[in-house]
Amino acid sequence: MNLTKTTRVIAALSALLAIATASLVGAEDTEKALLAKARTIFKALPDTVHVDDYPHSQARVDLGKALFFETRVSTDGRMSCAACHNPSYYGADSLALSVGVHGKKLPRNAPTVFNTPLLVAQHYGGNRVSVEEQALKALLSPLAYGNASYAEAEAKMRALGYETKFSAAFPNEANPVSAENWATAIGAFERTLLTPAPFDNYLKGDNNAISKQAKLGMEKFINMGCAGCHNGATVGGLSFQKFGITEDYWLATGSKEMELLKGRDKGKFHDTKKEEDTYIFKVPQLRNVAMTPPYFHDGSVAKLEDAVRVMARLQLGQKISDADVALIVAFLETLTGAVPTQFSSAPALPVAGFQNQN
Ligand code: HEC
Ligand code: HEC
Repeated sequence: MNLTKTTRVIAALSALLAIATASLVGAEDTEKALLAKARTIFKALPDTVHVDDYPHSQARVDLGKALFFETRVSTDGRMSCAACHNPSYYGADSLALSVGVHGKKLPRNAPTVFNTPLLVAQHYGGNRVSVEEQALKALLSPLAYGNASYAEAEAKMRALGYETKFSAAFPNEANPVSAENWATAIGAFERTLLTPAPFDNYLKGDNNAISKQAKLGMEKFINMGCAGCHNGATVGGLSFQKFGITEDYWLATGSKEMELLKGRDKGKFHDTKKEEDTYIFKVPQLRNVAMTPPYFHDGSVAKLEDAVRVMARLQLGQKISDADVALIVAFLETLTGAVPTQFSSAPALPVAGFQNQN
């Protein structure tokens, strides 16, 4: 009698165990399938992004770092790349709209400089092909550095005592202190600013690198269609798309007209003047997105949760539940890497008696 009872209990228990094991195996298969799917859409960050056009050397990186933090090449002595791409704010500036030389307001929000050499082009309108071209043109931008000519910027670099650093970075050149070399050196430094994150470890096979919530969020991100635009190693930044597919974007973001743009920001249109480029913007990368509010090209949306809601509504015509927003945000948080140490330590710059123009 007792024996039969025990047998029955054992039988029941092993049946339960079998079910549990089966569902465990099922769960494991589902997780494997999800990872396989993720790998077809996203990629881990590469170890380096050096290119043959701009040979890499430590001397160039060192010079580039100094120049990145150097304010005295700007006409008011206050602007540097780091003024708007600040280590304390994950390579951005935390403002809705950046403030440039002589206090001029820029029409756009500063994106992070991390991982940007991997993007299809630079700026929301894609009007700079590379980080090097971006750095070169910043010297003459009336909003950024305000120099009247490259010669003016080069003269300042010489007066500040940069000759030795340029010679080390560009040996065998007769005139190493040049605007082109400024750009190449800053580009060399930017090319070191990659931010591998827990998501990369997940893609490389560490299933515990990100939480269950984050995996569910990634699945939503894929299934809802976000990944149609935000994909690859930078989870975006690889294509241009219309902002506001289902309705005008400013109805959701509250974006204002801007004097400098003679109305609403029309994205790529301002660079190409082609009608079909109206409201076309570069899809931003989402690496470190949780650390770089406010959001969108004009910083019109303060919180990541709301940016996700705006995206679901404007790009996919969907109303998203709060629970799904939370899952997607949990996924986006796995894209946060550490601030590269070579970026967070300020360099000592050459000592010189600088006189700013006001
Ligand atoms: C006054 C603030 C300011 C200064 C100074 C500044 N930037 Fe920016 N940066 C911005 C803003 C705003 C944008 C976005 C412009 C756009 O999309 O039209 C931007 C865009 C960029 C981008 C493109 C990122 C992307 O995702 O498209 C890079 C790279 C960059 N800046 C690097 C630099 C470097 C290097 C310097 C110094 C040579 C510099 N910036 C100086 C504000 C600034
Ligand atoms: C059809 C293409 C497309 C789809 C689909 C799409 N996005 Fe975007 N996303 C964009 C573009 C373009 C921008 C830039 C808009 C701007 O600032 O002008 C953007 C911006 C963002 C931003 C702000 C980034 C920043 O740094 O300011 C976030 C966050 C974002 N998208 C998340 C999502 C999520 C989550 C989904 C799915 C619910 C999604 N996106 C679907 C194209 C798309």
